[in-house]
Amino acid sequence: MQYKSPKGVFDILPYEAKTDNVWRQSDRWLYLENIIRECTRNYGYKEIRTPIFETADLFVRSSGETSDIISKEMYTFVDKANRPLALRPEGTAAVIRSFIENHLYQTSGLHKYFYIGPMFRYERPQAGRYRQHHQFGAEAIGIGSPEQDVETIELLYYLYKKLGLSNLRVLINTVGDCSTRQAYKHALREYLSPHFNSLSEDSQIRFERNILRILDSKDPGDQKILEKAPTILNFLSEKSSKHFERVQELLKKQNILFKVDPKLVRGLDYYNETVFEILSEKLGAQNTIGAGGRYDGLIQSLGGPSLPSVGFATGLERLLQIMEEQKVAFPQAVGPLLFLIPLGKVALNTCFDYLCRLRHQGFYVEMDFSEKKIQYGFQMASSLNASYVAVIGDQELSSGYLQIKNLSTRESKTLPFTDLEKHLKGLL
Ligand code: HAM
Repeated sequence: MQYKSPKGVFDILPYEAKTDNVWRQSDRWLYLENIIRECTRNYGYKEIRTPIFETADLFVRSSGETSDIISKEMYTFVDKANRPLALRPEGTAAVIRSFIENHLYQTSGLHKYFYIGPMFRYERPQAGRYRQHHQFGAEAIGIGSPEQDVETIELLYYLYKKLGLSNLRVLINTVGDCSTRQAYKHALREYLSPHFNSLSEDSQIRFERNILRILDSKDPGDQKILEKAPTILNFLSEKSSKHFERVQELLKKQNILFKVDPKLVRGLDYYNETVFEILSEKLGAQNTIGAGGRYDGLIQSLGGPSLPSVGFATGLERLLQIMEEQKVAFPQAVGPLLFLIPLGKVALNTCFDYLCRLRHQGFYVEMDFSEKKIQYGFQMASSLNASYVAVIGDQELSSGYLQIKNLSTRESKTLPFTDLEKHLKGLL
C-alpha cells in the first residue's frame, strides 16, 4: 500500500520537478527564513519557539469561541490522559502563554519576540490555503504607543520590500478601545436590526454572538447591506482617535502608502486599537499575505500582568508563491566546488581522506563512491553543478600531481596534491 500525505498539507522538497510548485523547494524556504532572521535581528526581535500543541482552551480564550479559527478550524484532540489539546492554529496565544509561564516580563530589556513555524487550521484547501501552513510572526510586548504599532507594520513592510515584492496594499483600521467598541456595537445593532432577515445565515449567528465580525462577511447580500452601515471611525474615543491619527502620521512619514478600511476588523477576538493587513494585488481570494494588530488586553486575560502588545504574522507559503508570481530572483543553488572521481581502490581511500579533510576546512566537496566508470562520475558532477572535477588514479597517486578541470571552461590545471587546499582557497 502506498501512502499519500493527508489533504491540505504538502512536503517541502530539495528538488521539485513540477514548475508550478517551485515555491516548495527547500532552498527557497531557507533563503526566505535567512532574510527574516536578518530583519528581525536589526529590529531587535528575539526568537521564541513554543510547542506545536497546547491546551485547547488557550486558543478558545484568546481568539474567541465564535471566531472561525476556533469554531470551525481548530484541530483538537484528547491525549491518553484525556487532556483536551489543540494543534496551534496561530502563534500569538502560544507566545503569550509562554511569556507569562516563564515570567519573561521580569527580565529587563525589550520584550520583542519572533517565531517561524507550522500552524494548523482545518480549512477548505486551495491555492494559498492549507491545513498546515507556516507563519513568521512577531510580537512586541510592553509598549502601548503608536510608534510600536508602526515599528511592527514597518518591519513587515520592509521585509516584503527586501524580498523584492511590489504591488502591495496596506490596509489599516482601528477597532478602538472598549468604550469605542461598546458604542459602535450598539449603533451597528440598531442599523442591522431591520435587515436581520436579509442577512446571511453566518451573519445572523454573528449578530447574536459577535456583531463586529459581520463587517468581515464576504456574502454579496451582506456587503450591500453594510454599504450604508455606520463606521467605527465616527465612534472613536478621544484616546483611540489620537492613537490612530498618530499611527497614520508615522506611516506617512515612512512613505508607506496605506488605505484606511473602516470595515477591517480581523477574525480574532483579541484585537483592540490598530489592526492592519498587507495584501498582494494578485494572489486571488487568498490575497492577504500578512496581518496583525494591537491586543492590549490579552496578557491580563490569560492570567499575566496588564501589558499592551502588538504583533503580526505572515504566511510563508503565500509569500513564496507571490515571490514566484512576481518573478523575484532567488539566489542560485551553489554546487560543489570540487568533485572527486577516484579510479581504483587505492584512489578511493585517498580521495575519501581528502573529501573529509577538505570539508573540515570549509570547502563544499563531493565524491563518486560508486566505483563505476569515469563517465558516470562526470555525469554526477555536472548534475550536481560542480565547478571543478579531479580524476584520481594510480598515475596521479604515484606522481603526486593531480589535474583539476573547470567544468564550464573545460580548462585544466595540474598541481601537486600538497597545493590542493591553497589552490581551492584561491578559487573561492
Ligand atoms: P491571521 O490573519 O489569522 O493572523 O494569519 C496570519 C497569516 O497567516 C495570514 O495573513 C496568511 O498569510 C497566513 N495564513 C493563515 N491561514 C492560512 C492557511 N490556512 N493557509 C496558508 N496561509 C495561511 C494570525 O494568525 C495572528 N496570530 C497574527 C497576529 C500576530 N496578530 C497579532 N500578532
